[in-house]
Amino acid sequence: MMPKITVFNQDGNEQSLSARAGDPLMETLRDEGLVEGTCGGAASCGTCHIYLRDNWSEKCGERTEDEGYMLEGLEEHVEVKDVSRLACQIIVNDEMDGISLDIAPQI
Ligand code: FES
Repeated sequence: MMPKITVFNQDGNEQSLSARAGDPLMETLRDEGLVEGTCGGAASCGTCHIYLRDNWSEKCGERTEDEGYMLEGLEEHVEVKDVSRLACQIIVNDEMDGISLDIAPQI
C-alpha cells in the first residue's frame, strides 16, 4: 500500500503524494523536492522539519532522542511546535494513510 499524504508547502500550496510504507517519510518529501534531507536521515541537519496537522502526532509515535535534541537546536531559528517532527524519524506505515502536514520554515 502507498499511504496518501497531503503536504502544504511554505506558500500554502497543497500537494498530494503517495508515500512508500517502510521508508522514512523524509524520502518521499525529498524526492519531490519539498525538503533537502541534507544529512540523509540522521536527525542532524533539521532540513526535514515538518508540522503534523490534525491529530497525526499520535499516529506517528514519539520523537526519537536525537530528534528531540535537533528540534531543540532549531528552536533558536524557527518556531518549534508540539506537532513538530523530523520527517526522517517517521517510518511510513499503512496507518498513516491520509496524513497531512506543513513543511516548516527552513533555517
Ligand atoms: S534529514 Fe536531516 S534531520 Fe532529517
